[in-house]
Amino acid sequence: MSFAFGIGIGTQNNQGEWLEVYYQQPIMTPGKDLIDVVETALDYKGGNQAIDVKAEQLTRFANALRQLGQTDQAKLAEKAAESKRPVVVTVLATDDTASSTPEVYLKLHLISHRLAKPHSVKLDGIFGLLPNLAWTNEGAVDLNELPERQLQARIEGRTLEVKSVDKFPQMTDYVVPKGVRIADTARVRLGAYVGEGTTVMHEGFINFNAGTEGTSMIEGRISAGVMIGKGSDLGGGCSTMGTLSGGGNIIISVGENCLLGANAGIGIPLGDRCTVEAGLYITSGTKVNLLDDNNEQVEVIKARDLAGKNDLLFRRNSLTGAVECKTNKSAIELNEELHANN
Ligand SMILES: CC(C)(COP(=O)(O)OP(=O)(O)OC[C@H]1O[C@@H](n2cnc3c(N)ncnc32)[C@H](O)[C@@H]1OP(=O)(O)O)[C@@H](O)C(=O)NCCC(=O)NCCS
Repeated sequence: MSFAFGIGIGTQNNQGEWLEVYYQQPIMTPGKDLIDVVETALDYKGGNQAIDVKAEQLTRFANALRQLGQTDQAKLAEKAAESKRPVVVTVLATDDTASSTPEVYLKLHLISHRLAKPHSVKLDGIFGLLPNLAWTNEGAVDLNELPERQLQARIEGRTLEVKSVDKFPQMTDYVVPKGVRIADTARVRLGAYVGEGTTVMHEGFINFNAGTEGTSMIEGRISAGVMIGKGSDLGGGCSTMGTLSGGGNIIISVGENCLLGANAGIGIPLGDRCTVEAGLYITSGTKVNLLDDNNEQVEVIKARDLAGKNDLLFRRNSLTGAVECKTNKSAIELNEELHANN
């Protein structure tokens, strides 16, 4: 059983190097019969390979796919045969470290199509394989070729709009998963996992290899590697600490039915039904006063010792400034109307 497969249409620069690839219908764990067809029709030699394919090969490939009963993939191959852009067929026999741009794009697609969960796909080394590009209203452009393209557009009476300059494109130019609302599409990168029932408001952000399990209201930032459980809300401008730059090794996550208040932040994973007061940033070394139900101090511990525990309310005492933790008596009930996506 192979790991993944996809027929992609992409962009190359003037040197013929891949810039990005769009896989409309990637497949997770494709069957042996499908891979056999790739072998026969496209001379696939096994292993992880991104095969550049020409129109006539695609027509043959489409016929073979149709005979196999892979109607959707056959239709896709037929359409790809007419593409004005280069076409690639990518087979990942295993989930090894990627070795080409088309391979990385296939992995990111698997996550955004909800075929694979964040952390379940090997993504190390991907930065070196993702070129920093100008994402324009005419697609991805190599930065070295941008001035020429801008001039050409002006000469032809058009403006080339550069929407972003980044290694990752916005997810919605590749896939819009079912049952989501995203107010500002630039804030969700390809490789994000946006669970069904999620609303991402304008201040919300979801990085690659991160996301939400299900119904959530996201008005804060979900850093790379962070997963948010069903029914949890991220308040306006709040922050979840990633592990990419100085955030430490602990993988941050939020359990179910939690609330991170506006401008709050977490550097520890939260269990279920936890609340963090608006404006309070808990890092793993933050010293916390544990309070009983009568607000009497029980002990002082570090926040990391509370990592993953359920039913906690964190607040900064407005009189003393000390960070306190109590049992969360009023786990949030999500506003049904606010969270209705469909
Ligand atoms: C932390 C939080 C959840 C506490 O809310 P709560 O549980 O409803 O608590 P209440 O405001 O009813 O206060 C309960 C008691 O604790 C006290 N209290 C609340 N916050 C306190 C603080 N930071 N320091 C000291 N006392 C505090 C209250 O004064 C009240 O005292 P009382 O029993 O003497 O009347 C709330 O302040 C909060 O930050 N919510 C986040 C909302 C948010 O940002 N949503 C996202 C929007 S985008």
